[in-house]
Amino acid sequence: MTSLACRMAIALPVAALAFIAQSLVAYAEEPWVNAPMGPVAREIQPVYWILFAAAVVVLVIVDGGIIYSAIRFRERPGHVAKQFHGHNMLELTWTVIPTAMVIFFSVISFQRLQFINDTRTDAQMTIQAEGRQWSWIYTYPQEDRFKLSDGTYLQGAEEIHVPVGTKVRIELSATDVIHDFFVPAIGGKKDAVPGRKTEVWIQADRPGVYKGQCAEFCGDGHADMLIVLHAHDEADYQTWLRGALELANLLNDPATKRGKEVFEANACVGCHLIRGTKAAGRIGPELTKIGSKENIAGVLSPVNVENLKRWIANPPAVKPGTAMPVVPLSEDDLDAVAKFLFVLK
Ligand code: CUA
Repeated sequence: MTSLACRMAIALPVAALAFIAQSLVAYAEEPWVNAPMGPVAREIQPVYWILFAAAVVVLVIVDGGIIYSAIRFRERPGHVAKQFHGHNMLELTWTVIPTAMVIFFSVISFQRLQFINDTRTDAQMTIQAEGRQWSWIYTYPQEDRFKLSDGTYLQGAEEIHVPVGTKVRIELSATDVIHDFFVPAIGGKKDAVPGRKTEVWIQADRPGVYKGQCAEFCGDGHADMLIVLHAHDEADYQTWLRGALELANLLNDPATKRGKEVFEANACVGCHLIRGTKAAGRIGPELTKIGSKENIAGVLSPVNVENLKRWIANPPAVKPGTAMPVVPLSEDDLDAVAKFLFVLK
């Protein structure tokens, strides 16, 4: 080998190992097979490891046998291949062992299916998840605590929020093609089929954010069809719910819609940029996602309708020396603009 080839022969595997090590570090979350976070995942975990171990043993025996035979019995001058037909012991072995394995795997899988498929017993909550190209729409239960001011029930996209330690039944449906609901760490994996209702259940042991993914190829955007499951403890769930209801009610509020018109009809647009509107000013800060910012103008937090009103009504009173002037607005207009800005998330 030339010295370059020699160096490459060392450098390439080292680079590959470094790359793998780095991706493992980047993957900070523990893989679900090491740390299942819900009863269903925990039920599936041992089956996974048994199958994995069996697959490794089969791989070693079969591929080892192939490699050994290929080397040991390769064609060489002076060697004549032995001619024979059939070998009862061998044939019996490679028929009986795989059959026994398949039966064993079936038994340990079927034993668990009843538990995994039992979406009803002790389920405390039902959330509907509708798959469409390429997102999930979640509708929360028809209970008073999820009711909006217009009489409909809370819906959400992208994120699904559940209380920790609660068995939640997910009713799955699809509007266009087949999708699949899968949050590995929690368990549960089920197709969402157009024209049919399917069910799966989830339960999270601990608060946290669990990532999932549509697990059925459903077109161009399949890879982006994520499931972000937020599990909250009881107090946290109430806080999330209060905020979600407030936001949903504001989005339905006619004042919020009117706020955009008020904003566009006033001096605001001269200074501020809000993508997707007529506001294209560059003098003041961009307000495209003001609703999800930590504070207003660096001084007022949290960002809510009340604080937005307080700020817009008289900026110099809140932050002396600010370049933002008082824009005279009626009380109604002020309310509308604050609501419009708050829902920009
Ligand atoms: Cu939806 Cu893949």
